[in-house]
Amino acid sequence: MKKITKAVIPAAGLGTRMLPISRTVPKEILPIVDRPSMEYLVREAVAAGITDILIITGRNKEAIENYFDYSIEYKDNLAAKNKTAALADMEEVCRLANIYFLRQKETKGLGHAILCAESFIGGEPFAVLYGDDVMVADTPVTKQLTDAYEKYGKGVAGVCEVAREDLKKYCSLKAEPIEGRAYLCTDMIEKPQREEDMFSNLAILGRVVLPAEIFDILRTTPYGAGGELQLTDAMKVLARNEGMIAYKYDGKRYDMGSKLGFLQANIELAVKHKEIGGDFVAYLKEFAKTL
Ligand code: UTP
Repeated sequence: MKKITKAVIPAAGLGTRMLPISRTVPKEILPIVDRPSMEYLVREAVAAGITDILIITGRNKEAIENYFDYSIEYKDNLAAKNKTAALADMEEVCRLANIYFLRQKETKGLGHAILCAESFIGGEPFAVLYGDDVMVADTPVTKQLTDAYEKYGKGVAGVCEVAREDLKKYCSLKAEPIEGRAYLCTDMIEKPQREEDMFSNLAILGRVVLPAEIFDILRTTPYGAGGELQLTDAMKVLARNEGMIAYKYDGKRYDMGSKLGFLQANIELAVKHKEIGGDFVAYLKEFAKTL
């Protein structure tokens, strides 16, 4: 089984749940304390053995590209002020992986964004990290999924158990347990509105590993709700044809595309932050007394 070394991070969405800020700041660059969420995604991919990352961007998303570029002004300034740690940090970020950028010219859905990556992927299996989902885990979630791909030789959907009332917002999977955290998924339904349409409480959240056959499927998948090409419609075909692995990953997910998720990530990770964690906890305890 070929090792997975490529990943796609779709980050071209309009981020309407994060309006008004997303009109001018891409939600994928919003900070968790002092680092953009996109850095967490890139680091997660790298920790899973990924060497080549394609970030799908769009208009108004230049900030993402700039962040991974070497800023000469900062280099000179930091060197002159002897701020060696900050300089080393910037150099490390710029060297994390081979990062490529491609514009999705129209935001025609997650499936369309993935289809834009076809020539970059070139026939290999690859990981997809949804650009607004930050995961914190002991073993990187992408690594858990690539390991499952290498073990079972099938596309892998990262899943979580979701409360019944929330399933309407996600993709519900028909899946039977195999062993441990792995299930065999043979069907799925995107945003089921009626209780009787829900297959299970397992929903796809944030990470998948796909074989290159997904591109052929995407090309023949009709555009669905909102005129968008849905990745889940294509994964449904894959699951029905050859089965996929649903892998209940171990990790904490923060939905940086939602206001609540953005705040949760900031509070929970600020508490653990090396520089400000102690002061922040002291502040938070005092502040909580006033609530
Ligand atoms: P979302 O559905 O969460 O992103 O897509 P969105 O459309 O920006 O969200 P809202 O509902 O308007 O707030 C998951 C990921 O796929 C990317 C998004 O940037 C996000 O990281 N995406 C979505 C694309 O790259 N292209 C698209 O056409 C749609």
